Amino acid sequence: MKAKNLAVLGLQWGDEGKGKIVNFLSDRADAACRYQGGHNAGHTLIVDGKKLVLHLLPSSICHENASSLIGRGVVVSCDALFAEIDEIESYAKGIMDRLKISPACTLIQPYHILLDQLKEKSNSFTTIGTTLRGIGPAYEDKVGRKAIRIVDTLSEPKLDQKLEETLSYYNFLFKEYFGVKELEFSEIKDKNLEYGNKLLPLLSDISNEIFTINQAKKRVLFEGAQGALLDVDQGTYPFVTSSNCSPAGIASGAGCGPLDVGYILGVVKAYVTRVGEGPMPTEIEGNLGEEIAKKGGEVGATTGRPRRCGWFDAVSVKRIIQSNSVAALCLTKIDVLDGFESIKICTDYKQEESKKVFAECMELDDVNPNFIECEGWSEPTAGINDYDLIPENAKKFINKIEEICGIPVDIISTGPDDASTILMNKEI
Ligand code: GDP
Ligand code: IMO
Ligand code: MG
Repeated sequence: MKAKNLAVLGLQWGDEGKGKIVNFLSDRADAACRYQGGHNAGHTLIVDGKKLVLHLLPSSICHENASSLIGRGVVVSCDALFAEIDEIESYAKGIMDRLKISPACTLIQPYHILLDQLKEKSNSFTTIGTTLRGIGPAYEDKVGRKAIRIVDTLSEPKLDQKLEETLSYYNFLFKEYFGVKELEFSEIKDKNLEYGNKLLPLLSDISNEIFTINQAKKRVLFEGAQGALLDVDQGTYPFVTSSNCSPAGIASGAGCGPLDVGYILGVVKAYVTRVGEGPMPTEIEGNLGEEIAKKGGEVGATTGRPRRCGWFDAVSVKRIIQSNSVAALCLTKIDVLDGFESIKICTDYKQEESKKVFAECMELDDVNPNFIECEGWSEPTAGINDYDLIPENAKKFINKIEEICGIPVDIISTGPDDASTILMNKEI
């Protein structure tokens, strides 16, 4: 039986190929919903042979029969949102009729971006290697109960009061702590009022939209941004993003009940990549790492930074699976490993027994990975969309991942386009 709803999330450090898979699965749902993160995300899809990179819009946006929802857990930069709509409009006809945004979303303001940049530059703070988009400071304001939400931009007196309170705090910080110029109140206020007007026709009660879709026995596809190892609670803290990008974030960020999430598909690359700072136990140094990065085109879709590459880390993936009700895996980029003589999978961390109590802290800088080696395959998997044509050793590699992770691989991806996809479970 098909699940009520479905969720597609990354189980590593992001860039697992979520965008391609959400676009691929979009005709199985009546709406797709982003529920956390912001324009730090970069989701790549191929539509009519053209590569599109989405940052804020759900990756279903080119499907005319599916609505695109942005839930209250997303932090919205209006500059980024409207630039993306303009860029994508010709590929997503009627976009303004099917895009709906929660008025409860926090807005990213110029002071968030400035603070993100100042902190990353300063020697007094740990460098995280953020996307410099103001994501962290915007979530800080949300949790600190001083965020300006979309709804606040619809009333001038309310906006005046909230902005005055918040901006005076930031300007004190900028002037007294960082020694930089303060930001102008009126400029920020006018922009907010302008964007409030522009957003008005797109606003909707997203929580109720989801409820109504489900009442009509239709389905929502929840699209995660980033990956579970970047989750602020479950990831490699402090080298994480500032939201819950694991399934735990869906109910609060989209506005549905935890039991309504349905089938959870964890997207994993056949290896692993990471952009920015932070530990990565299976990182491959030197030529081999560079070769994988080159073959996989591992360059950040948002910031253009090179992605660090490592072997598939089954320990961290298993940890996420066990505490997140992940039903199955989607294994992407297996084609990038075509032609390698031997491929490693990390199955265990060598770690002192006394340190195991701290495993939940995910401070992975002092763990040593144990690997198993799988024999590579010389015949290509690239572009294959029939499981029977997959080389035997590649099948063994896929089976090994299933066996170690304890859940099935329901989708195999062998290239960036939809045609290069093998649907193993027809019930999705
Ligand atoms: P996302 O953030 O999880 O949506 O992933 P990104 O779009 O940031 O990065 C994934 C990259 O890999 C993009 O360039 C995709 O076009 C590409 N991609 C996705 N699946 C596959 C695959 O199976 N094989 C290959 N070679 N590329 C893929
Ligand atoms: P998608 O959705 C990969 C990383 C940044 C940095 C950390 C915190 O395309 O998988 P932030 O700007 O969020 O405060 O930065 O998180 N990061 C991502 N890495 N893919 C992403 O998104 C990412 N979004 C944020 O590089 O290390
Ligand atoms: Mg990405």
